[in-house]
Amino acid sequence: MSKVTQVSHPLILHKLAYVRDKNTGSKYFRELVEEISMLMAYEVTRNFDTEEVEIETPICKTKCKMLAGKKTAIVPILRAGLGMVDGMLRIIPAAKVGHIGLYRDEKTLQPVEYFCKLPQDIAERDVIVVDPMLATGGSAADAITMLKKRGAINIRLVCLIGSPEGIKYITEAHPDVDVYIASIDEKLNENGYIVPGLGDAGDRLFGTK
Ligand code: URA
Repeated sequence: MSKVTQVSHPLILHKLAYVRDKNTGSKYFRELVEEISMLMAYEVTRNFDTEEVEIETPICKTKCKMLAGKKTAIVPILRAGLGMVDGMLRIIPAAKVGHIGLYRDEKTLQPVEYFCKLPQDIAERDVIVVDPMLATGGSAADAITMLKKRGAINIRLVCLIGSPEGIKYITEAHPDVDVYIASIDEKLNENGYIVPGLGDAGDRLFGTK
């Protein structure tokens, strides 16, 4: 069963309040999403494996811990996921970045993939999928299915705001994927927006309407 971690650090909550505010313009919105993503990166990497290494300080030899084993891939779901990449990279600078773009066919309701470019060794990496909003959970679930088809096995999902419906959907669709989220809001409205949410994350990041 997926573990859902609600990351309610005071700094994240404080920044999230500004992100939600409709009067926050794109420039500040982008900066805040980047900063929150940095803080979320700290949490999502908390259980990464470490190994003991021997180094030499100017004083003597000593044993220290360093990250072990797997390398990381950050995979934003286009387009709003792009807003979280730089913040993640500030904390995990050696990560490679893949991109997934998909939409749902209005008639068949099947996911249509329009872009997928991943690091070639995705199967050997800890994969962190990023998307600020977990609304129905459909896009995140489809993106994770695409990643699994291409060999990814160790996947975490990081979102800023989710709905209870989205959390239920993703954890049932991918029980092996742990979810890190700053806030689980009240509900989805009839237009598919999270309430109270922050509006359309992509539009607010990129200044489109
Ligand atoms: N996507 C958004 O950007 N906002 C929502 O509220 C739901 C989906």
